[in-house]
This record gives sequence, structure tokens and C-alpha cells, in this order.
Amino acid sequence: MSPKNLLKVFDNNANYTPVWFMRQAGRYLPEYRKLRESKNSFLDLCYDKKAASEVTLQPLRRFAFDAAIIFSDILVIPHALGIDVKFAPNEGPILQKIDSEQDLEICSFDEQVLLPVYEALKLVKQDLPEDKALIGFCGAPWTLACYMVEGRGNREFPAALKALYKNKIFFDKLIDKLTDVVIIHLKNQIKAGADIVQIFDSWAGILSADNFYRYVVSPTEKIISSLKEFDKNIKIIGFPRGAGVLYKDFQNAKPDAISIDQFTPLSWAKENLSCVVQGNLDPLLLAYDKEGAVLYTKKILQLFNGQNFIFNLGHGIVPETPLENVEAVIDEVVKFNNNCVF
Ligand code: CP3
Repeated sequence: MSPKNLLKVFDNNANYTPVWFMRQAGRYLPEYRKLRESKNSFLDLCYDKKAASEVTLQPLRRFAFDAAIIFSDILVIPHALGIDVKFAPNEGPILQKIDSEQDLEICSFDEQVLLPVYEALKLVKQDLPEDKALIGFCGAPWTLACYMVEGRGNREFPAALKALYKNKIFFDKLIDKLTDVVIIHLKNQIKAGADIVQIFDSWAGILSADNFYRYVVSPTEKIISSLKEFDKNIKIIGFPRGAGVLYKDFQNAKPDAISIDQFTPLSWAKENLSCVVQGNLDPLLLAYDKEGAVLYTKKILQLFNGQNFIFNLGHGIVPETPLENVEAVIDEVVKFNNNCVF
């Protein structure tokens, strides 16, 4: 059995619910805000191996998380492709837009740009206790394409959807290129010590069912099969956020676990998915209603009863989340695990 608590969930007879939170390193932590102030830009922090490794470890010093997720961003991939990426305060990411095959030609992947990410993973690995897992991650091709074609965040990504229909040759080439680069980036993270990787497809939910197959399931399946060929033991979590009933179809990409957003009941997921399920406490419930969050936590721990389940949020933790709310929820998971018979 793996010494890593998070990986126990993939051993069939383990009785343990591991816990970690998406965006667990970030602005809700005062020690993160302090370190962040010392850097001019968010990307400077991502590419400073020492600072990135320190920020990765911060949440584990406070809370009983079973894993560290490397501090980085999904948008380092467009950046390493030569695209200008900026994080404007209170505005989110701003990218140089691409919308044609000519634009795509100027995109060439410079692996050197991402070396600090891999160096940071190695540093974290050195300091990580034996029982804690290290999570690597990337953005999925569809979600990365959304930001690259739109040039910024947007809940509907109209430019990306238009390109998908009206400029298919360009769009398909973009997805293929991103798929190849994601594979390299994840392999490098595995080489640097990641025990498990998560593929964030934050905007999977805005695609039609047919396009979900073509732009979410197919590229993810290709990524997963390449990674498994590279390292048959690597575990992969897919997070096609907002997929609804299509979560079931997402299983065709063959992930080891599927992360469920707060809009999908976990009872449905338990019934309909045959892999490990991760999720799905509403980040806003956690931020604004401590008692409600604890109640929900008890409910979902009982639903899975220590089997095939990773406790997480339905999406990233929000900056205004009080530390005591996080503490209260994690305590509940720890209490539950202590009462489980091993
Ligand atoms: O989970 C972790 O602790 C690791 C770090 C991590 C970050 N971003 C750090 C970050 C991870 C896993 C991500 C993933 C990410 N980044 C996603 C997928 C998950 C999701 O939220 O849907 C997406 C879409 C992005 C792109 C991105 N990065 C946006 C839209 C923003 C701005 C919005 C915001 O929250 O400010 C970012 C910036 C960002 N990435 C911050 C952090 C801690 C905040 C920037 C800062 O601290 O100045």
C-alpha cells in the first residue's frame, strides 16, 4: 500500500478519505499575501522556484491536507508558447489574442520558460513529509484555448466558441498543439516528482454535448494514454467543470479520478461513475457559512464512507474564506478518518 495518504484511495480496500483543496495556496492565507506583496507580478512568483515551493508548502503547515499542489498557473503554458500573459490586479489574466493559423505559427514552445516550475516541484518534494502526496497540474487544451482566443477571462468565451465553429482548421490545430504541449509539461512534472496530476478543464461546461466529446474527452484521453505509457503508475484526476450529466461520458478519457463541481450531486456521481470521485463542497458555502459547510462535510463523508472518495471543493477556495472555516471542515474529515477502522 502507498505510504501517501492521498494515493490510498486508489487501493481498493483502504478505508480513508484524503483531503486537499483546489487553490489551497493563495490569497485566503495571510502568509501567502505577505510573500505575494514582495513580488511585482504573479508570474514572477510562479517562476521563482524558492518562493513557489514555499507557497506550495504554506497550507500544509496550517492544515491537515494530504497533498501539496504545486504553486503555478494553467496560463504558464500559453506563456511558454511565446504569448504575452499578464495578471492585472482585480481584472484577472490578460493575454495576447490569437485567432488565425498565422498566429499559431508564431507560437513555439520554449520548455526553458517552465524549468522553474519543475525545480520548484523538486524543492517541495525534498521538504514534503512521506505521507503527503505532491500534485502537478495543467490546464486542459479546451480551457487554455478559451483564454488564448478570448485574450482574457470571460464566463461565456464567445470568441473561442465562434472560432471553434467558423475557423475550425485553426481551432483544431490549436487544440492539437496544446494537447502536445500539455503532455510534455505533465511528463516533466512527473519526472520532477509529482505523484499525481490534475487536468483542470474549468470551462468544459460551456460546450455542446458533441463538442464536449471532440474538445474535452478526446484530447484528455490522448493526454492520459501518453502519460500512462510514460509512467504506468501515475494517477490522473480530470476536472471537466460544469460537465453535468456529461461527467459520465468523461469516463471515456479513462482518468483515475473525476473531480465534481458543486452543481452536480455527489449521490449522482456515486451512482453513475465507476472511478474515484473528488469533490465537491461549495467554495461559497465554505466562505460564508461555517456550520453549513461542516454539515455538508459530514453528509458527504457518510455518503462515501471512506471508499473511492477524495474530499475537495467544487472549485477553487475564494480569497475571503476565513481560516477557521477551513479548520472546522478539515477537522471533520480528520475526525471521520480517525473513527474509520483500518
Ligand atoms: O491550487 C493551488 O493552490 C495551486 C495554484 C493554482 C493557481 N491557479 C494559482 C493562482 C492553480 C491550480 C490554478 C489554476 C487555474 N488558474 C485555473 C483552473 C482552476 C480554476 O480556477 O478554474 C484557471 C482558470 C487559472 C487562470 C487564472 N489564474 C485566473 C482566471 C486568475 C485570476 C483570478 C484570480 O483568482 O485572481 C489567476 C490568478 C491566480 N492563480 C492566483 C492564484 C493564487 C491569484 C493571483 C494573485 O495571487 O495575485
